[in-house]
Amino acid sequence: MKKIGIMTTGGDCSGLNSVINRIVVGANERGWNVIGIIDGTDGLCRKPANIIKLDRDVLPIENVRLAGSLLHNGNACMMNFEKASKMNRLAQFNKMLKTSLADLKLDALVLIGGNGSLSLSWKYRDIYSGLSLVCIPKTIDMDLPLTNKTIGFDTAVEQLTRYCDQLLLTARSHHRWFVVQTMGRDCGELALTAGVAAGADAILIPEIKFDTNELIRHIKSCERDYGVIMVSEGITLRGHSGRPADMISRKLTAAGIVNRAAFPDYIQRSGDTVATDRILAAKMANCALRAIENGETYVMTALDGNDCRTVSLAEFYAAGDVAKDPNIPELETSNAYVEPDNPLLDVAETMGIYIGEKRK
Ligand code: F6P
Repeated sequence: MKKIGIMTTGGDCSGLNSVINRIVVGANERGWNVIGIIDGTDGLCRKPANIIKLDRDVLPIENVRLAGSLLHNGNACMMNFEKASKMNRLAQFNKMLKTSLADLKLDALVLIGGNGSLSLSWKYRDIYSGLSLVCIPKTIDMDLPLTNKTIGFDTAVEQLTRYCDQLLLTARSHHRWFVVQTMGRDCGELALTAGVAAGADAILIPEIKFDTNELIRHIKSCERDYGVIMVSEGITLRGHSGRPADMISRKLTAAGIVNRAAFPDYIQRSGDTVATDRILAAKMANCALRAIENGETYVMTALDGNDCRTVSLAEFYAAGDVAKDPNIPELETSNAYVEPDNPLLDVAETMGIYIGEKRK
């Protein structure tokens, strides 16, 4: 009988509970024991480790749609790689994690994380040398290479779409535009996808240069005097500072376009998990359990077409654009961005949406 652990690391998103539930149910079907590690690395490095025994009653099916993580994601004061790096204690921290995992006597660990967590798992792979490490990619940013989808992305798109649906009603009443700022870090996938879904008239993403005069011309040429301009949090405007939506809003105001900036913020990471995220969770959980059965390690589950398969963390790391992590100087993360041949860019352009000037 196997004993496996699950932990959620990095920022939360909707769909984490769906994955946890599917892993637990699938593992119990196989007769395996499952423990959950609370608060990611913080729970793992405590003595004794902060864990709970998981079975299908701990996270009943009626609760798996809820956002957040049953296992929590930690907070800034807790122990994690970022804090260990700041304290100059990365080597000791790695050792603590390795010892703790050995004490737990796990056959496998399912680590549900974003590109930072997965890059860390590869960089400090020695921590997991005694077991089978299987990662499941989750993030609303969709900034991981080699997978067509990450857990939480579809729900974030749904949340943004519904948010814009509501804004459009007040926008129409006041003959006013809304500049909506999405999350996504340096990747514009969330803004692009939600912008198309919500019927935005312009979408600005970090990957494509834009010209504010062209944006203004485009908005003024619209038949309507209201609508949504979707702006990714990663865009910059030379000579300007502050929140991107505020910068664009000021430019529009100066050009006589009545508008407001709007910030959906963390509701993008919450909301009941949509069906497609739940299906993705089931596929990825199934793929992870099979990988454990097959004795695979240092792998990530990835959606390829409609199927889920595993790719090695080495491949994941080599496939992305390597960038310095702003919070952990020792780390370079593996990132994905909106590619110039992303089909949604063509769709947006064909629909008359302003998406910028030049695809990098
Ligand atoms: O990576 C997920 C994400 O939600 C980004 O889109 C956003 O920039 C960031 O996390 C916010 O992080 P925090 O929870 O630390 O404010």
